[in-house]
Amino acid sequence: PAPVVAIVGATGAVGIELIRCLEARDFPISELRLLASARSAGRRLPFKGREVIVQELTELSFDGVDYAFFSAGASISLKFAPFAVAEGAQVIDNSSAFRMDEDVPLVVPEANAETLADAPIVANPNCIAAILTCALAPLHQRWSITRLSMSTYQAASGGGAEMMEELREGTRAHLANEDFEPQILPHPYAFNVFSHNSDLDPDTGHNGEELKVIAETRRILGQPKLPISVTCIRVPILRAHGIALNIRFEDHVCQDRIRDALSDAPGVRLVDDRALNHFPMPSDASGQEDILVGRIRNDLGDPSGRTTSLFIVGDQLLKGAALNAVQIAETLYERVAVK
Ligand code: A2P
Repeated sequence: PAPVVAIVGATGAVGIELIRCLEARDFPISELRLLASARSAGRRLPFKGREVIVQELTELSFDGVDYAFFSAGASISLKFAPFAVAEGAQVIDNSSAFRMDEDVPLVVPEANAETLADAPIVANPNCIAAILTCALAPLHQRWSITRLSMSTYQAASGGGAEMMEELREGTRAHLANEDFEPQILPHPYAFNVFSHNSDLDPDTGHNGEELKVIAETRRILGQPKLPISVTCIRVPILRAHGIALNIRFEDHVCQDRIRDALSDAPGVRLVDDRALNHFPMPSDASGQEDILVGRIRNDLGDPSGRTTSLFIVGDQLLKGAALNAVQIAETLYERVAVK
């Protein structure tokens, strides 16, 4: 019979996209179990022309489950993933709880599917790390990346449904000249740009998001010491992240070869029209499975020709979260089906 699939955090921004991705990609499912907090128990969410009733997450929620997607934050994953594993489910965890655990594969199928062992828990990477490595893997395989430097332009969806709502409400209030007190973010979000709201590490001055991007990108590319500089910034966009990136390779690489390599890369769409000044934008990337890559050019600041600049935009809820998680489940399921 087809697998039983559970989604923990089904009512959240990522949870809703997980339901949509499973439906759109026709993942084989005999039962879909939607789990959330007691607040949501009884809500109905659409799946394949039916309505599925949301249940409260408990320790007993995983009876008979084959694949359990977790997207309700790290503390829920730490507490409840062991119950899913004990019931024989394979957990695909969207939180940061297990990502640096050596026994837990951290997987972007386009970049490191070969590391996807048949482990009880598989970690879905941080959204920037997933979008970034999807574009970088085909370049790294050919030319060996020796250094990365980037700034991010991060959307509200990374902070969940509540942060998206704060952006909408704050924008409405701003346009109506009304007072608005932010609840989720430390600063006004509408018509503003600020340093990522994750906690600052007092020693390095880096925020938690920047440290995750560094550690996870290194792990996915299999380069534990790769030098990475990163500045993470929030921008008032709903659901697509941008990355302005500077890549140094071991040797000289011509921009045309990079463009050719990316035009053939799975999960990547080239948007690089210099004549029309049309490059990757959140408005084009939102709702798209492919990430968009463009503005590819040799860096004039490095006369040796080893450095390239480019711009990437990817849907944070899709390749940055739900889509990548479903692709992991598809890869796991294909292996079982082959056996
Ligand atoms: P609920 O909607 O019932 O609060 P987001 O990332 O968009 O903020 O979504 C978080 C998800 O995690 C939601 O589905 C939310 O459910 C769920 N969640 C939060 N706290 C708990 C909890 N204590 N038990 C189960 N699910 C939770």
